[in-house]
Formats: sequence, structure tokens, C-alpha cells
Amino acid sequence: MKLPDITILDEKNKLLHQKSKDVVFPMDKKEKDMLEDMLTYLEMSQIDKYSEKYNLRPGMGLAFVQVGVPKRAFVICNENDDGEFDKYIIINPEIISMSEEMIYVGEGEGCLSVNREVEGIVPRHARITIKAFDEEGKEFTLRVREDLAVAFQHEIDHLNGILFTDHINPKCPYKDKELMREI
Ligand code: NI
Repeated sequence: MKLPDITILDEKNKLLHQKSKDVVFPMDKKEKDMLEDMLTYLEMSQIDKYSEKYNLRPGMGLAFVQVGVPKRAFVICNENDDGEFDKYIIINPEIISMSEEMIYVGEGEGCLSVNREVEGIVPRHARITIKAFDEEGKEFTLRVREDLAVAFQHEIDHLNGILFTDHINPKCPYKDKELMREI
């Protein structure tokens, strides 16, 4: 595999703190190619051989704005139980329902734009259902749970200019832990 030439913005960049705009269809070929490149990058970051060779931090999701395009789209690459990679391209998403049950990632969340250790946990819904569009503009709904639900909520936050660190109060980084289930 060839490592795509993408640059991931750091949290200090203002774009990451602004709300992204809706994607307008039809999408440019250039933008579609970029989403594919982002997926390839994520996949390679999760394969030891490549992450070592190119010194990549493993990541599961990337929002368009993280590569400098402030439009409402993100990609997720998730290794499934069979060792294959499930890939998602999600455009103009809306959360249409969410579980009351809340979860958090015990080891904390990470973000390819946050290049420092951050202590604390982020409350997330255990299950969400979204409505979104694919890169051809076709609408679909999708229900996700557990770590995938966390990843989706993390990426949807990016579209609204919110980083996972914004959810953590440094004075009380484990707030409400007992009210949620750890994953
Ligand atoms: Ni992130």
C-alpha cells in the first residue's frame, strides 16, 4: 500500500474549532478521492507494518476538517472480529436517535489532531442512529453501538468544531464516571 499524501491539522488550528458546512452534491472528484485517501491512511495506521514504517499513530476516524476541508463529512475505518476493515464514508450526518445509556472509553479517547496526553473520560451514548448521505448523495440510516458509536459521536463533534478535550474538565476529568458504563 502507498501512504496517501495527507496532512492532519493540529488542535491549535482555528478550523478545528469552527462548525463545518454541509457538503453540496454532486461532490468534486477531488473531494471523493480525498475521503478515500483518508480511509487508506486510517487502515495503514492500524497495520503494524505500516504504522512502524511511516511512524503513524493508529486512528479509527478522521473528519474532513482535520485535513483542512471544513465540510460535514468524515470517515471511519474499524477492524472487525474477522480481522477485516469496515470502512464508512459519512456525509452531512444527523443523529436521529440515541440511547439513554451512556458509556465511556476507560483508557480515554484519542484524536489524530491532539498530539498530547489528555487525562479524562468523555460521556457518549452507547447506541446512536444516524441519517446521512454517501458520496453519491444517496441517503441512508445506520445504527451503531459501543466503540463504533463512540467513534461516530467523536467525528460528528468535529463537524461542529468540538474536540473530545472540550468535554473534559481538567479539574474533574472523571466526572460522572459512576453513572456510565466503561468500555
Ligand atoms: Ni478526532
